[in-house]
Amino acid sequence: MTTPADLLIVDIGTLVRPREPQRGVRQRDLCRVERQMALSIKDGRVVAAGPEPELRRASVGARIVSAGGRLVTPGLVDAHTHLLFAGQRAHEVALKARGATYLEILAAGGGILSTVRATRGASDGELLAQTRARLGAAVAHGTTHLEVKTGYNLTPAGELHLVSLLEELRREGPWRLTITFLGAHALPDEYRGHASEFLQELQRVHPQLVGHADFVDIFQEQGVFEQEEARPYLEDARRHGLPIKLHVDELADGGGAALGAELGATSVDHLAHTGPAGVDRLRDSQTVAVLLPGTSGYLNQGPHAPARALLEAGVSVAVASDGNPGSSPTVALAPLLPWAASWLHMEPEELWPAVTTIAGAALRCPEAGRLEAGDPADFLVWETDDYRVPCYQYGTSLVDETYIGGRRVAAGGHPLF
Ligand code: NIG
Ligand code: FE
Repeated sequence: MTTPADLLIVDIGTLVRPREPQRGVRQRDLCRVERQMALSIKDGRVVAAGPEPELRRASVGARIVSAGGRLVTPGLVDAHTHLLFAGQRAHEVALKARGATYLEILAAGGGILSTVRATRGASDGELLAQTRARLGAAVAHGTTHLEVKTGYNLTPAGELHLVSLLEELRREGPWRLTITFLGAHALPDEYRGHASEFLQELQRVHPQLVGHADFVDIFQEQGVFEQEEARPYLEDARRHGLPIKLHVDELADGGGAALGAELGATSVDHLAHTGPAGVDRLRDSQTVAVLLPGTSGYLNQGPHAPARALLEAGVSVAVASDGNPGSSPTVALAPLLPWAASWLHMEPEELWPAVTTIAGAALRCPEAGRLEAGDPADFLVWETDDYRVPCYQYGTSLVDETYIGGRRVAAGGHPLF
């Protein structure tokens, strides 16, 4: 019996194939590492992973491509980005060097609000072109599936329009996109002092998001949107069947992790300041903790998220880039792995699920980051044969080739599309 396959990747020195999260299974035990493997593919999906001689016999007629004895992993799943925006904020480097905090810059009308001005002022063509370039660079650095949030228009109609632009980019590919509505990203100038009114206006568009946005998110932080403002807004999203995510405890412990767990959020993100009570509330929930060490490292104004406490409590921990023009100006997740290891005290066996299958769970997309039979053939070939090296060596990208749906879409750090 031969298994039909049109592509066979051979000479895989090391194959990392994380399993999806399972209650009661430690995160590190999800990380399956296999040696001397092959991967067979048909119509862009995985047929099988197995020992090379076996798969060679079973894949008669398939095109054979060698991985050169190197490391192959699933494509990375970046479960938290804000890559739809115009312009940049390089002027904030000097402000921060002189001691201005993130919230001080925002309160003075800068920060997120300055990107809102740039984004409102950009044409659709400009916005699409800038975002398309960022997504292409993300793919070239090993991200195959990204969540992208709206949030730099801050009017109900404008935020809905941003969702439609993301749908356009999703159709274009080759990247896979999850779309999150983050109209509640900051309070626009025109609503200063009237946060509840703004959220009430915004939630009027929730019914129109159904079938277009995958999630509704809010920046719940003291001084941005308070708990009592966020709760009814998120409850309304739930009533429309829209799954929710929350930005919480990024700058102070405001009890946001507990709020997310209580509301059944798919994920709570940031958690840099989350204390033992928040960890405890997440312990008994299905909510995924999405940690963003690039942001706490780049802001450099406080602690990193309590990854060890979360892992020890059995919480599923994903790691994402938070790519955005202010607190984490990057498009890529792979270069962050060594910093995640160092700052979050996570081991390679814990990090691989964090950027693949658990990130997929944070997007309610179990096949994202997984390479089982039938899954999309989204994978990477790295410039090393050791699965620990991408979590160790910093500064340059070690991703050599990116495949999406069995097609090689980037090589040597450059998109091929
Ligand atoms: O996740 N916290 C809010 N939003 C982003 C930052 C966005 C920006 O500064 O433009 C974050 O850090
Ligand atoms: Fe964010």
